[in-house]
Amino acid sequence: MLPLLLLFGLLLLLLLCLQWRHPNHHLLPPGSMGWPYTGETFKLYTQNPNSFFSIRQKRYGDVFKTHILGCPCVMISSPEAARVVLVSKAHLFKPTYPPSKEKMIGPQALFFHQGPYHSRLKKLIQASFLPSAIKPSVSQIENIVLRLLPSWDNSQINTLQQLKRFAFDVAMISAFGDQQDLEIERIKHLYQCLEKGYNSMPLDLPGTPFRKAMKARKLLSETLGKLIEKRQRSNEYGGGLLAVLLGGDGDGDKVEKNKLSNSQIADNIIGVIFAAQDTTASVLTWILKYLHDDHHLLEAVKKEQDAIFEERVREGGRGLTWDDTRRMALTSRVIQETLRTASVLSFTFREAVEEVEFEGYLIPRGWKVLPLFRTIHHSAHFFPHPEKFDPSRFEVPPRPNTYMPFGNGVHSCPGSEMAKLEILILLHHLITGYRWKVVGEESGIQYGPFPVPKGGLPIKVFSRKNKITSLN
Ligand code: HEM
Repeated sequence: MLPLLLLFGLLLLLLLCLQWRHPNHHLLPPGSMGWPYTGETFKLYTQNPNSFFSIRQKRYGDVFKTHILGCPCVMISSPEAARVVLVSKAHLFKPTYPPSKEKMIGPQALFFHQGPYHSRLKKLIQASFLPSAIKPSVSQIENIVLRLLPSWDNSQINTLQQLKRFAFDVAMISAFGDQQDLEIERIKHLYQCLEKGYNSMPLDLPGTPFRKAMKARKLLSETLGKLIEKRQRSNEYGGGLLAVLLGGDGDGDKVEKNKLSNSQIADNIIGVIFAAQDTTASVLTWILKYLHDDHHLLEAVKKEQDAIFEERVREGGRGLTWDDTRRMALTSRVIQETLRTASVLSFTFREAVEEVEFEGYLIPRGWKVLPLFRTIHHSAHFFPHPEKFDPSRFEVPPRPNTYMPFGNGVHSCPGSEMAKLEILILLHHLITGYRWKVVGEESGIQYGPFPVPKGGLPIKVFSRKNKITSLN
């Protein structure tokens, strides 16, 4: 038995020494590749990810190698190096996702692509989320909020789950406009079935969440296909991103040119809903926690929101406008600081398309490269006392390339203005009409996959006692 164990041990050691013996291994970035096959995956998933990154950054510097989830990786935590990967040499680093994610969302969604196809789609999606395009959604989003909040009154809710519902309803309007086609309810139902499989093991076996999600995905494509054909046949393209992808201008006018195929349209609609929902809901959940934990800050934000509310009352009980949302300076800084502190997208994945010379090191072709947004956002060098939640730090703009909650370069987020707008509208009505209390003692963070307060932040919601004159 002992000789066998010894032999096994020696074999393991040999593998450890040989596995990453790249011909130019002395040029690779410093760092440890961990154990054969598993690399440092267990360490990343059992330790607090913040300490995993910071321990290595201290030991090896801003660029270090490791081995995660079966892939050799280079992690990057300096703003300059992140800029090289995401902006100046972006063509050498393609986006990369697990194949199961690509299958579920749809392989033609823009974030899986580089080059002309990606730029063409990016232009269309950006056009659909420009401030001028989203201004008219203020009242639609407000209606969603005004339907949702009364259902929270005097109840205990799971903040994350409720805000996912909110972000989903807003994403549906962004995708399809507010036209209520027959297919919309079915699309909502099928998307929710698909979503249950997003974080599942990609096991294509009867009864697994993955198999069920893929079945929902197929039906979703068919239903989206029917809606696309219906809107194509009629002279009305409707509103939202779908209208833009169909080649209209969002107001129903047709422009026949370079049409996208129905499956390209469907994959990108699903992709945008996917990109919009959990990100926005997680950020909002953190905002509710930070405001709950800092009474003085909440009072100051209340003052800002109450002033706008009172103005609406004075002006005949009108609804919220785009201009009102531009006057929420402190609330906007709370959003900015939450995006920094919570860094819900802690990092992103790229893959070197060829052997790349990088900051004096060599990154072999096929290696994953991860710009670590969270580590940069938590560097005391760029954000003094980084663990302190302090919106006033955004009274002056952050140093270039140090603040990237929406990414940077060609793949940066086209939905950033939409996300901020929907957060402002929800906060306005929540803060002026209600107060909330976190339930339970649970502290800490859960990852699913984005970092959120443990248990999704259960809260109890009440109408505000000193509620200001309500609108009719
Ligand atoms: C607070 C909420 C949000 C955060 C923190 C966020 C963050 C990000 C980040 C960091 C990226 C870049 C990923 C990378 O470089 O690999 C990204 C991309 C993207 N986001 Fe967002 N996002 C948010 C909300 C939204 C919303 C509301 C939409 C749509 C309406 C959206 C649509 C997209 C799309 C389509 C991409 C892919 C862009 C491309 O590959 O060119 N996001 N987002």
